[in-house]
Amino acid sequence: MLKKILKMALVALALIFAGMQFVRPSRVNPPAKAGRGIEEQVRVTPAVETVLKRSCMDCHSNRTEWPWYSNVAPASWLVADHVNHGRRHLNFSDWARMEGVEAGSMLQAMCKEAQGGSMPMPSYTLVHRGAQLSEADVQTLCDWAGAESERLAAGAASEIRALRPDVVE
Ligand code: HEC
Repeated sequence: MLKKILKMALVALALIFAGMQFVRPSRVNPPAKAGRGIEEQVRVTPAVETVLKRSCMDCHSNRTEWPWYSNVAPASWLVADHVNHGRRHLNFSDWARMEGVEAGSMLQAMCKEAQGGSMPMPSYTLVHRGAQLSEADVQTLCDWAGAESERLAAGAASEIRALRPDVVE
């Protein structure tokens, strides 16, 4: 009797699992638009690029490397949700959508998230061991974010001065 119930339960589970596979989230890497990427908008040093590629790119760019399990529900739903959500908040492939000031605070947010350990998402580093940030990685990211956000702010200030030469500081 018990054996029979167990068998039926297993069959039911297998059917549910099979049924779940029909709900396929879209996994698209939209094409990059020239001139809009982070590397075209701010100065990205090779060291920073390495960190971003290794630890952030899968969720924060259009160049996602979809792992095999992103084909298998329910993992596929989770992965697609993280990528869609991540891209909506911050997309290296469309960095240009942010204004100068906004880009500056995004740079600082990137440093803060990395320092606080909330990015990359812990569920991601659980599987992508190599994506974990070392202290040196965080330092690299934060030094760069600080310098670049200052440069952006200085650029914005000089732009304003150029527009309003009558305003003397
Ligand atoms: C597994 C996917 C994933 C990875 C990898 C990842 N992120 Fe995120 N990130 C997200 C998601 C999802 C959000 C949306 C925030 C939320 O709802 O929790 C987010 C939000 C952010 C935000 C907030 C953006 C805003 O609107 O203020 C920053 C900054 C950020 N991530 C930086 C990073 C950095 C830097 C890395 C790499 C060191 C990284 N993330 C790696 C998924 C990811």
